[in-house]
Amino acid sequence: MTQSDVLIVGSGAAGLTAALNLADRFTVTVLAKGALNEGSTAWAQGGIAAVLEPGDTFEHHVEDTMVAGAGLNDRAIVEFVVERAPAAIARLRALGVPFAEEGGALHLTREGGHSHRRIVHVADATGWAVQEALQRAAEAHPNVTLVPDQVAIDLATSRHEERYSGAGNVWGVYAIDRRTGAVEVHTARATILATGGAGRTYLFSTAPRGATGDGIAMAWRAGARVANMEFMQFHPTCLYHLEVKNFLITEAVRGEGGHLINPTTGRRFMPWYDDRLELAPRDVVARAIDAEIKRYGLDFVHLDISHMPAEFVRAHFPNIHEKLLGLGIDMTTQPIPVVPAQHYTCGGIVVDRDGRTDLPGLYAAGECTQSGLHGANRLASNSLLECFVFGEAAAQHIAQHWDALPPAPAVRAWDESRVTDSDEEVVIKQNWTEIRRFMWNYVGIVRTTKRLERAQHRIDLLRSEVEDYYGHFRVTPDLIELRNLLQVAELIVRSALHRHESRGLHFTLDWPETLADAADTVLVPRA
Ligand code: FAD
Ligand code: SIN
Repeated sequence: MTQSDVLIVGSGAAGLTAALNLADRFTVTVLAKGALNEGSTAWAQGGIAAVLEPGDTFEHHVEDTMVAGAGLNDRAIVEFVVERAPAAIARLRALGVPFAEEGGALHLTREGGHSHRRIVHVADATGWAVQEALQRAAEAHPNVTLVPDQVAIDLATSRHEERYSGAGNVWGVYAIDRRTGAVEVHTARATILATGGAGRTYLFSTAPRGATGDGIAMAWRAGARVANMEFMQFHPTCLYHLEVKNFLITEAVRGEGGHLINPTTGRRFMPWYDDRLELAPRDVVARAIDAEIKRYGLDFVHLDISHMPAEFVRAHFPNIHEKLLGLGIDMTTQPIPVVPAQHYTCGGIVVDRDGRTDLPGLYAAGECTQSGLHGANRLASNSLLECFVFGEAAAQHIAQHWDALPPAPAVRAWDESRVTDSDEEVVIKQNWTEIRRFMWNYVGIVRTTKRLERAQHRIDLLRSEVEDYYGHFRVTPDLIELRNLLQVAELIVRSALHRHESRGLHFTLDWPETLADAADTVLVPRA
């Protein structure tokens, strides 16, 4: 059991930003379910969007974000985030993030949907540099305790108090220690969920293994609203390779001149789909690739930047270049085979501008949230930015309202008296694969009501099996993730069935039009 002022679940950009903003005044415990750097943050390639180019304005960045988000964004939140971007970059530089420079100024690259060069980056491995800098600062702070290998199972709420209460407060989490298998309770006055996305609900995803939507599922089970889960972003250009299934080829390759080519015709195809060509927003490019693949019976399309000077390609994309060389592809002379893959979870736990959820004492930040920034489709490189802005906002709100947050009462220990060790681990593996497969096939880039209903039916069948398993056997990290994957799959399918239009990332052949009024899909848990 640990007790601290603030508990943060997640050690990526959102969690560590919050921790660093709290640590001068409060004791902070940060949990990660594996190693501290195993979240999506360390995998980010392209960079962070901020208005820094002469001639660019906050209004342009706001407008680009709203256009990509198909009008579903909350403009006030978009402005709030965009206006804080330059300061967020300055703080990262102060922490030692070595952003690329050119002629004494930051080098800004370009990505789809951005009307200006706006992306600060560290070559093609921005996330790694950001994660390292944040982690270094957190490790050096005496008030921050970083605890890897703790898999949060559920929120500890007023229902778990030694004297039961129905007040709905959140007092921390129950978590299993991966090394010992023991379940501990971590309590605090305030808890921040910064658990990242739910990409692994899909068979093909650029996201790391741990992106199983744990925070979203935990918040939902505890009674918080979840919104816009139908908006799953598919990145247009994931490497197509028989052994390496989830390696991203950054959008910056298109930003710096890469073309998408149909390998059968040998021709660029984006001119048939959108005037913005390869730099159209992601949903448009991913659907165009999907259409070419289906129309020509392809396994992949080509992304080709070999017409640019080899030195330029190597300098901008050193890591991708090296990785591909190891797989026998020289991107300076050859095209790269690519396919779309799940990449980002636009929906999540409903939060306000201060990162507050519906539950007293519970905050959330980063990819696990629906803050209003992304709308129906996230603009490239706006997500790390969201982590920095909302990590800080949640920390500030906690600090400003500290005296109003009651101290955590005594919480009951985890009860294992009625469970035994599982005798059939194969059940978990089978169900995990099944979910990811039907989500890919039935709830992908192009949807129909019939396919969504099929997915719903599978979920209904699996629910009782998984709950039965959870109720009878000792929890393991794999079982926790399976339960969460299924919960999140259900939230995605329910949201998708609820939306009777096509907007942004949600495209259904049964409702191809976009309605005049944009409305969020807000799911409310049963009391
Ligand atoms: P993460 O960084 O994913 O961290 C989640 C944390 O939560 C981890 O520490 C994990 O261990 C912990 N956690 C999860 N569940 C539990 C649990 N049950 N118990 C305990 N701990 C738990 N965005 C950009 O803006 N620019 C980019 O260039 C960019 N490139 C990307 C490239 C790739 C390949 C991917 C996958 C994403 C990219 N994104 C990019 C998106 C961006 O990286 C993520 O949205 C962002 O890093 C999410 O940060 P986060 O702090 O919310 O979560
Ligand atoms: C990329 O580098 O293409 C990813 C950028 C993002 O997801 O924002």
